[in-house]
Formats: sequence, C-alpha cells, structure tokens
Amino acid sequence: MRSLISVSDLTRQDVETILGYARGFKEGLSYKIEGDVALLFLESSTRTKISFEKAARLLGLRTYSISGQTSSMTKGESFYDTLKTLELLGFKGVVFRVPFVLYPYKDLVDSLELSLVNAGDGTHQHPTQGLIDLFTLRERFGSLESLKVLYVGDILHSRVFRSGAALMKMFGVSVAVCGPATLIPKDVKALGVERVFKNVDEGIDWADVVVWLRLQKERQKENYIPSERSYFLEFGLTRERYKRLKGLFMHPGPVNREVDIAGDLIYSEKSLIEDQVRNGLFVRMAVLRWCLS
Ligand code: CP
Repeated sequence: MRSLISVSDLTRQDVETILGYARGFKEGLSYKIEGDVALLFLESSTRTKISFEKAARLLGLRTYSISGQTSSMTKGESFYDTLKTLELLGFKGVVFRVPFVLYPYKDLVDSLELSLVNAGDGTHQHPTQGLIDLFTLRERFGSLESLKVLYVGDILHSRVFRSGAALMKMFGVSVAVCGPATLIPKDVKALGVERVFKNVDEGIDWADVVVWLRLQKERQKENYIPSERSYFLEFGLTRERYKRLKGLFMHPGPVNREVDIAGDLIYSEKSLIEDQVRNGLFVRMAVLRWCLS
C-alpha cells in the first residue's frame, strides 16, 4: 500500500503509471479492490469528494464519509488520533481534505497502517487536481515538451498551482504566473516558475494554455485586492480577453463567476473545464488503484 500526500514524492514513472491506469479506466477497464475507504473532508468540496466516492465504489471499495462538523476533531481530537481510530476500525485507506498544511508528514505516514490520499491540505498540495490537469493536457496535446502554461490569479493560496506546476515541470512544460503582486509568493521561482507576468494580456499572448485559479476568499486574511470588480477587469477572463486568447483555458473549479471568469465563458469552445471534471473520476480511480492495490 502507498500514500499520496505530495506530488514531490512521485517519480516520472509513478506519474506515467497513474496516468496509464487513468487512460485504461476512461477506456472502460474494470478493476476491483476489496476493502473500506473513509472520506474525511474537513473542508467543503463538490467535485473532489463526489468523484473520489464514485471512483472508490466503481473499484468495489466500500466508502464511509466523515465531515468537518461531525468529526471529533471539533472536540479537540488530533488528526493523528482520528487517523489511528480509522486504522483500528480496519479501514484500508483514508482520503482526506483538511484546512491545514500537512508538512512534515513522513513520520505520520510511516506510523500508520493506512493508505493516506491527500484531497487538498491547506495551501500545500492537491495532488489529484495536478494529475487531472496533466492528464487533460496530455489528452489534448500529446507531448507536453515545451508547452507554455500560464497560471493566473491567487497563486499565493493555491495548492492546485503547487501540485500542477511541479508535475508540469516534470514533463517539460514551461510554467509562468500572473496575478496581483500581493498574491504571488516571494519564492515563486523556486516552485518551478520560469516567468512572472505583471500584465495578464502579455501572459495570454505567450501561453498555449491559461489556468485561471479561484480567488480563495476563505483563505485571505488581509485585503489582497482593492475589489473583486477591479481584480476581474485586471486579471480575470473577460469577453475581450477571451477573443485575444489564442489557445485554451482551464480552471480547477469551483469558479467565482465574474471574478475569475465571465460566467458565460465557463463552458465555451476554448474551455477545458468539462474535460477536467470528467477526467477527475478516472484519475481518482487510478490514484486509488496505485495506492491501495
Ligand atoms: N477543484 C476542487 O478541488 O474542487 P472542489 O473544492 O469542489 O472539490
């Protein structure tokens, strides 16, 4: 059994194996795993939780859900004791989403006889979203060598960016970012970024694919932007920018309509969002297979 907490623990061969499984599942491959999986979601989620649950059930796993409001962590129980309880109850794996950064995590992983699958921890990692985005780009472009991908928006708080950029760099993609200076981490170049654009239109002209990120209002403890309207006009996907876009765009969801992207462009011709959501099921089946079998 394996755990997946951060994409930094994956080799290129691991990623190839997972994406190969995902392709097989998308083509209709059936695969069965015996056992119980807990879905411990202490933060809200629609697509990640439901696609993990569906993925687990399609693999024959039995699923059990624990939410933030009903877990004994609200009474002060530690994350470790919660996981230990699930281990003692015979669970094979735990898919978790938590509001805190799980780092360091090696001792935690080594101390439990459970497979731990990270479905998003604070601003740290969202490995399956990164894998979904990589899978979706490969499906569309084949080789990713020298593809240019621009992430736009709230880079500072984005676990999607941290997982996605690392995976893309592994496959030869040139990664750039653009956003308000207040939302660009100081160490952004250490995260695999080649270029930082101040002007989103210059970034759009450079990129083959633009990933608009969600403005993470729930994590913003300060006023990082003057207003959502000014943010949208300066950095969002407006109808004017859509015309300028020579390539395609993505968004991990959920979208803030008229803040990240104009609402009527979400499911438009240049959008890969529907592919991202559909592929989520197959990539999560692949990750569960890789971790649990
Ligand atoms: N992309 C993503 O993590 O979406 P949810 O918050 O709906 O799971």
